[in-house]
Amino acid sequence: MTAGRLSGRKILLGVSGGIAAYKAAELTRLLRGEGAEVRVVMTAAAREFVSPLTFQALSGNPVRSELFDPAHEAAMGHIELARWADLVLIAPASANVVARLAHGLADDLLTTLCLAAACPLAVAPAMNQGMWRHAATQENVARLAGRGTLVWGPAEGAQACGDTGPGRLLEPADLLERIAGALCRGPLAGVRVLVTAGPTREPIDPVRYVGNRSSGKMGYALAQALRALGADVVLVSGPTALPTPAGVARVDVETALEMQGAVASRVADCDLFVGCAAVADYRPAAPAPGKIKKTAERLALELVRNPDIVASVAARAAPPFTVGFAAETERLVEQADAKRRAKGLHLVAANLVGAADTGFEHDDNALTVLWDGGSAVLERAPKPVLARRLAAVIAERFHARTAAQDPR
Ligand code: C5P
Repeated sequence: MTAGRLSGRKILLGVSGGIAAYKAAELTRLLRGEGAEVRVVMTAAAREFVSPLTFQALSGNPVRSELFDPAHEAAMGHIELARWADLVLIAPASANVVARLAHGLADDLLTTLCLAAACPLAVAPAMNQGMWRHAATQENVARLAGRGTLVWGPAEGAQACGDTGPGRLLEPADLLERIAGALCRGPLAGVRVLVTAGPTREPIDPVRYVGNRSSGKMGYALAQALRALGADVVLVSGPTALPTPAGVARVDVETALEMQGAVASRVADCDLFVGCAAVADYRPAAPAPGKIKKTAERLALELVRNPDIVASVAARAAPPFTVGFAAETERLVEQADAKRRAKGLHLVAANLVGAADTGFEHDDNALTVLWDGGSAVLERAPKPVLARRLAAVIAERFHARTAAQDPR
């Protein structure tokens, strides 16, 4: 995480009643950690779940709930409070608050502030899945979105009431990324990025596969670093044990052909493509429909070539800025540059493999980045650090190419 991304930004955090209200406390902490000023407004129902003292301590500011509260109004009137904010976020936003906002009610401090505020308004709904799916809630949410309110989530999964489905509050780290995305215009703001990561698994039969040792760490770290620069990132991932980076949309695939399909259906809508996946070069020609029995003494596996995903992206008529990786055991620059040319890449990130402690499965890596007419050496570092350095080089080269294509 980049320290102080929200330095000096003013966030008005509305907390409404729901079991997820405790997550707003963590969000307050994260916002302060990024340098934001936070003022919290709670609905009466929210106070049943979390004490205002918690938010007061975490935000460093008094917590407000009442519209007609002479003590607080004297310090900062509600209209002043609405004008103070750079962004109003209601998290969690209950079905009731969503309904009241959709109808423009101003029957407590929070809804009144939302009407008075001229800054962006975001809601992060959290409620029982049945309440979320109800036509009334869906109409209210659509009405808010149609008015320009940012609707973040909800996520799907297990609910406190025992149900499973849509209605979970997004995680605080995810909400933080959304706030940063809404308020900070990083160098890749508005740029649509597609990243492949992880290994692929090529089935031999229903229980066995041909795979490789890629952990996905570099691709995930890069997806996160590009997101932190403001990009909208979709991560097409082979099987990994890694959590999805906050604010990144993830599409899970298993085989190279599935990865190619997931990329092909999205590539026309991306400005920047990063092929970080360790795609299997070959797949079994004819996977057995049933489990292969241990009868034969020798068994030959016929393999056929997989398509080269990054090369097919670069070969499009109007390709996105295309970045590939090259892992080489010797003559790193020479071989990586040959790969860049052969695949038609705009940029290649090359690393030396075979050394004991970098590359596949390791936490550290070092890269040499090559493009037409230039290069950069990124010294050995933990993968998240290296990913941030690489993301900065990618952003710079992306803009250099865009400027060259469109010299205004
Ligand atoms: O040819 P090689 O496998 O060394 O190239 C590595 C680069 O090509 C990586 O960027 C990788 O993601 C990409 N690649 C691909 N599809 C393949 C093989 C590699 O996109 N089938």
